[in-house]
Amino acid sequence: MRSQFYLETFGCQMNVVDSEQIVDLLEKTGYVRVDAPEAADLILLNTCSVREKAERKVYGHLGRFKPLKTANARLIIGVGGCVAQQEGERLLEKLPFVDLVFGTHNVHKLPEMVRCVSERQDRCLEVDFLDDGTRQNLFPTSGSRSKVASFVTIMQGCDNFCSYCIVPHVRGREVSRDSREIVKEIADLANRGVREVTLLGQNVNSYGLKEPGEISFAELLRRVHQVPGIERIRFTTSHPKDLSDELIDCFAELPKLCKHLHLPVQSGSDRILALMNRGYTRAKYLASVERLKAVCPEIRLTSDVIVGFPGETEDDFAQTLELMERVRYADVYTFLYSKRTGTSAAELADEIPAAARQERFDRMLAMQQEIGLQIWEADLGRVLPVLVEGESRQGDGQLFGRTTWNRIINFSGAAALIGQTVPVRVIRSFKNSQLGELASADPWPKGGEVIV
Ligand code: SAH
Ligand code: SF4
Ligand code: F3S
Repeated sequence: MRSQFYLETFGCQMNVVDSEQIVDLLEKTGYVRVDAPEAADLILLNTCSVREKAERKVYGHLGRFKPLKTANARLIIGVGGCVAQQEGERLLEKLPFVDLVFGTHNVHKLPEMVRCVSERQDRCLEVDFLDDGTRQNLFPTSGSRSKVASFVTIMQGCDNFCSYCIVPHVRGREVSRDSREIVKEIADLANRGVREVTLLGQNVNSYGLKEPGEISFAELLRRVHQVPGIERIRFTTSHPKDLSDELIDCFAELPKLCKHLHLPVQSGSDRILALMNRGYTRAKYLASVERLKAVCPEIRLTSDVIVGFPGETEDDFAQTLELMERVRYADVYTFLYSKRTGTSAAELADEIPAAARQERFDRMLAMQQEIGLQIWEADLGRVLPVLVEGESRQGDGQLFGRTTWNRIINFSGAAALIGQTVPVRVIRSFKNSQLGELASADPWPKGGEVIV
C-alpha cells in the first residue's frame, strides 16, 4: 500500500502556496493525500504565528495527534511554516512526539527530511534561512496543478518591520523573483487552463526595487497582461507607502486587472501609524484612495485594521472609524492587537486592557458591517462578469466564481462553463458571498473587467 499523508494549513496565501508545493513534492515521492489524520503515516501542519490565537491553535491541533503517535510508533508528525520557523528546536523540546520541524525557507527539503526520519528513526530540524546562492528554491514552480485560478509567488519575505508584525522575523528578508521566470510560469499556467492569476508577496508594491535591473511592479503587471489565455489579474498585498501613481494608473490602463485593491491601513491615526512604523500618514493614504477612485470609479477597496495597539486612545480609535467611513471599504479584516515576542511593539508600554480592546472591536465591526452591506446590496440586479472556478461547495448543481471585486458568487449552470467568463446577474447579497443567475447563455464578451 502507498504511504498516506495528512496536511493541514493555517495562515495566509503564502502558506497556501507552500502547502501546494508540499503536496507536489510528497506526491512525487509516492505519497497519497488523505482527509483523515487517523489514516495517515505522515501528519503535517503548516503553521501561522501572526497572532497569539493562531499560534495557540497549532499547539491545540498537535495535541490531538499525540494519541495517534502513541498508537502507531511509525507515524511521522511534522511542523512547518511560521511557528516552526520561530520556535525551531524549542518545538522539538516541548513536544516529544513531533519528529520533524521545517522552516519557511526549507519546504523543498521536506522529502529528504521525511526519508531521514523514517529510515534512521531520528528527529530532524531545518530552519536556516537560504542565502543568495540557494534562494531560487524560495520560488517553486506550480508543479502539475491545473485550476482556473492560481496564486503565483513573486516575492518572499518582508523588510518593512511594522512594529507589531512577526512576518519579517519568520519569512526573512525581501526577495523579488526574476520577472522573466514569473512571466514564463504564468504562460505555462495559461497553457494548462489557468485563466486568473493572483500575484503574491507581503508587499508587491516594492517588487523589483531592490534587485538591480529588475522592472517595476507596474511594468510586471503590463507584461503579465500580455500573456495569452490569462483573462484576470489580481495581486496582494499592497503597502500604502509604496503605492505609486504608475501602479494606480494600471487600474485604468489594464482591462484584465480586477477592480479590487486590498490596501491595509491598520490605523487612521498618524500617531499610531508612526508607532506602528508604517511609513505613511493618514493624509497620504487618503490621497491615494482619492486618486484610485478618480482613475477607476468602479474600484472597491478592502483593508486590514488593528484595534487596540498599545497607547491607542479613544481619539486615535475615533480617527480610524472616521477614515473607514470616508473610504467606505467593501470589506475590512479587523484584528485585535496581539503582542508578538521579538517585535518592537512588544516593548511598548500602555497596553490597552482586553475589555476595552474588545469593546472598540465590536463597535468597529458593527459600523463596517453596515457599510459593507450597503455596498454589496447595491449590486442587486446588476450583471457582472464572473470567471467560473468550479462546482459550489454547497453542492446542488451550483457553480461558483468571483466577481471582479473578489466576492464569491454562486449560481446554477452547467459544469461545462467552468473556466469561462460568463454574465451573472446578482440576485442576493449575504455577508460573505452573493447569489446570482446566469444572465445569458453566451460567454462574457472579451474585453476584460468591464462592468455594465
Ligand atoms: N503583508 C501584509 C499582511 C501581513 S499579516 C500587509 O502588510 O498588509 C496580515 C494582517 O495581520 C496585517 O495586515 C495586520 O492587520 C494583521 N496583524 C499582523 N500582526 C498583527 C498583530 N501582532 N496583532 C494583530 N494583528 C496583526
Ligand atoms: Fe508585516 Fe508590515 Fe511586512 Fe505586512 S508590511 S508583512 S504588516 S511587517
Ligand atoms: Fe501567518 Fe506566516 Fe502568513 S505568520 S500570516 S502564515 S507569513
